[in-house]
Parts: sequence; structure tokens; C-alpha cells
Amino acid sequence: MGLKTFIKKNLYTLKYIKKKNKKIENKNILITGASSGIGLGICKTLVEKNKVLAIFNNNEENLKKINNSNLIFFKCDLSNFDNYSKIEKKIIENDIQIIVNCAGQFGSSNQSIHNIDFENFLQILKINSLSILKILQLMHKNDKIKNVEKIVNISSDGGSVELNNKGNAYVYRTTKSALNSISKNLSIDLKRRFGISVLTIDPGNVKTNMNNKGYLSPNKCAEYLIDILCDNTDHNGTFINLLKKKIPW
Ligand SMILES: NC(=O)c1ccc[n+]([C@@H]2O[C@H](COP(=O)([O-])OP(=O)(O)OC[C@H]3O[C@@H](n4cnc5c(N)ncnc54)[C@H](OP(=O)(O)O)[C@@H]3O)[C@@H](O)[C@H]2O)c1
Repeated sequence: MGLKTFIKKNLYTLKYIKKKNKKIENKNILITGASSGIGLGICKTLVEKNKVLAIFNNNEENLKKINNSNLIFFKCDLSNFDNYSKIEKKIIENDIQIIVNCAGQFGSSNQSIHNIDFENFLQILKINSLSILKILQLMHKNDKIKNVEKIVNISSDGGSVELNNKGNAYVYRTTKSALNSISKNLSIDLKRRFGISVLTIDPGNVKTNMNNKGYLSPNKCAEYLIDILCDNTDHNGTFINLLKKKIPW
């Protein structure tokens, strides 16, 4: 392994200093994208001491394997807004305190200016950006939003307008920029009205179905994310990486 690869691979481990933060226990936690990659890693850890409501689209098998009575999982294609009735039912039945919004797709391979697939673009916009708003709307409608303490939106530095120096990937970049904008807006709106903290996180370069060249394992990434979730510092309204460093919007 070359020096550059070694540094990239170990970046988080080298810089990461564990502090004693609060633990997350006895909460009701809704996780989107819980059935694979980063979301699955978060789900597996949090389910030990909390009740987890996990949303999947295709990969139910991964959740079945967890085999823990604290876990409730159900299918919802987040790109179809007519399909949110199961989420609404769970929202009514459980007082959800934490939402980890991790579902996401990169989108079609046609993301250059000459071949943008607009149908796919709109679908990905619903999954990556609008689904959290739809979920919160259902909570609001059922007078459940007041129970929420924290919302974590898993975004990407690919959605940072300022850091973009490569171009291309119109679908992924735009939908993550939209998520960032929604997340920032929620952090002002919901903090003021309900005291909810809303943070936006770039999970780094993680080896998952979406990124088979990633460096960090989903479980390690989940460990850092949960540490941020438990952090004594309130990260409301910020866009940060796993090292809790601010990323420009
Ligand atoms: N991996 C990275 O390096 C990286 C970097 C930056 C940001 N991220 C972000 O991290 C998040 C998790 O991605 P990942 O890397 O863990 O990829 P992943 O393994 O492909 O996980 C994506 C998750 O999203 C769910 N999902 C996708 N489309 C859905 C739909 N229509 N309805 C409901 N759920 C849907 C998937 O459900 P099913 O599996 O059940 O279909 C899966 O649980 C994404 O938001 C991604 O943009 C990842």
C-alpha cells in the first residue's frame, strides 16, 4: 500500500479522539435507508438499546438477519409519495424521538449535460431530498412532531456548492444540495418551534453498494455517526464531516 493510500485509509482513525459523550438509550428511532450500507450499520448498533423503526425498499433480508425484538422494519419506496401510509401508521403508533435520514441513491449513470435522465432526476429528488419533508409533514399532521429531539440528514460533500470543482453528476449533486438547503431550513424552523436539532453530515468515503471503492467500512462510519448523534455539543444547523469539521454549504 502506498503512503497516499495508507493516509487516506487511516485518516479517520488517526484524527479521531473518542470523548465520553451521552449514550442513546430507550429512544424510538426512525431510520430511512436502514437496510444496507451506512444505515444498516447505524441500525445494528442503535437497536441494542433502543426501539428502531427501519425503512427498507429492496433489502429486507439484511434487516431480518438482525433478529432483535427491538427492531420493527417495513417497506416503503420513498420515491412514491402515495406509498407513505405505513410510515404514517408507525408515526401514529410510536413517539419517535430521533430520525436518521440515510436513504439515498446516486441516480442514473446518465448525469452529463448531454444525457440527463429527467424522469430519474425527479425520482431521486424525492428520495434524496423531499422524503424527509414528507415524513415530517406526516408527523406534523398527526401532532407527533413535538416528540422529536433530533434529526440527522446523511448528505454528501458532493452537494456542497462551494466545494464543487469537478462538475458533472447533476442528479446527485443537485439532490444533495437540495437536502442541505432543506436541512438548514429545518434547523431554523424546527429549532424555533419545537426545540429540534437538525444536523447535516457527510459520511465520508464509505464502501457500500453505492460506492464500491470506498475506504471506510459502513460499521466504522456508523460508529462515528452515532458518536456525533450522542455528542454533548449541539450541532444544530451545521454541515459537518465525521471529524465534526464544518463543510461549506
Ligand atoms: N458510501 C459513500 O461513500 C457515501 C458518501 C457520501 C454520502 N453517502 C450517502 O449515505 C447514504 C447511505 O448510502 P450508502 O452508501 O450506505 O448506500 P447503500 O448501501 O446503497 O444504501 C442506500 C439505502 O437507501 C435506501 N433506498 C434507496 N432508494 C430507496 C427508495 N426508493 N425507497 C426507500 N429506501 C431507498 C436503500 O434501501 P434498499 O437497500 O432496501 O433498496 C438503502 O438502505 C446515502 O444518502 C448516500 O448518498 C454515501
